[in-house]
Amino acid sequence: MSTETIAAAKKEVERKGFLDIPINPSLDLFAEIERLKKEKNAVLLAHYYQEADIQDVADYIGDSLGLAQQAEKTKADMIVFAGVHFMAETAKILNPTKKVVIPDFKAGCSLSDSCPPPLFKRFKEQHPDHVVVSYINCSAGIKALSDVIVTSSNAKIIVESFPKDQKIIFAPDKNLGAYINKVTGRNMLLWNGACMVHEIFSLEQITKLKVRHPKAKLIAHPECEDPILRIADYIGSTTGLLKYTQTDSSEEYIVATETGILHQMEKASPHKKFIPAPPDNGCACNDCPHMKLNTLEKLYLCMEYETPEITMDEELRLAAKKPIERMLEISAKAGL
Ligand code: 13P
Ligand code: SF4
Repeated sequence: MSTETIAAAKKEVERKGFLDIPINPSLDLFAEIERLKKEKNAVLLAHYYQEADIQDVADYIGDSLGLAQQAEKTKADMIVFAGVHFMAETAKILNPTKKVVIPDFKAGCSLSDSCPPPLFKRFKEQHPDHVVVSYINCSAGIKALSDVIVTSSNAKIIVESFPKDQKIIFAPDKNLGAYINKVTGRNMLLWNGACMVHEIFSLEQITKLKVRHPKAKLIAHPECEDPILRIADYIGSTTGLLKYTQTDSSEEYIVATETGILHQMEKASPHKKFIPAPPDNGCACNDCPHMKLNTLEKLYLCMEYETPEITMDEELRLAAKKPIERMLEISAKAGL
């Protein structure tokens, strides 16, 4: 391909979100990605919601906490983040000198978008006696306004690390916040945000499915709404859900989270049956449209041409780093 074609495509990355150039169809992308990893001393981190091909070529697949921990300790020169923007941004916050690339820069998050920093700053100013606990699914701007970051796997222990009478704002996920309020007996003030994927599950459809599969256990991510969580047999982060299916004795599960996780569940327990929890209107809305913007082709291109790249203002990075480091410290102490 001519250098002019590549230069023109690079100029378009900001508008399109990814490098839009044709790939030789005879290329073995799996082998190419492995070659690029070695040549560039790159590590490929992927979230469980990525398509199966991407998971299969990743060096590490995990939940948000696991991915942040891997990003913190990696010795690679380049971090390739197959996930959504806030995850790659977290990796950059922890690794200012490393190059962090993402297959599609437009892979955002409806939950993160539901909490714009200027609005949240005003909300925080209205409650000066509250500390701010933010779910990692938020922008660097929100992280910079937070005292500590949490993920779905450490939110309970981190909230419990504050004295019982400490007033707390929890942002941006009202469903995770309400769940943590319930399990800790706290009364955190919740920002009114939610994930478009986890809000779509239908209690009615799940109940009907349970009738048809009486032995199936319902396992749910805490981003789901309360009526779903109330009837769940197990609630946990993506890693928690996966581990549960590996250690629990049941043979069948209804899985109330994004469908990407089923790939690892099926690989780990091929004899078990995993049924995606149905959304309320028969759509494919339990596929996260942001996560699924990443493809093997875009992954290959972002590694080959090292773009789109995550960059960040240094003052913002330093402010956002503090609450992430606090989260990592508390998690390490708790053995997570
Ligand atoms: P975890 O993988 O940390 O459970 O988070 C789920 C999620 O929604 C990521 O966007
Ligand atoms: Fe955001 Fe929900 Fe997609 Fe996770 S599944 S990236 S919370 S929109």
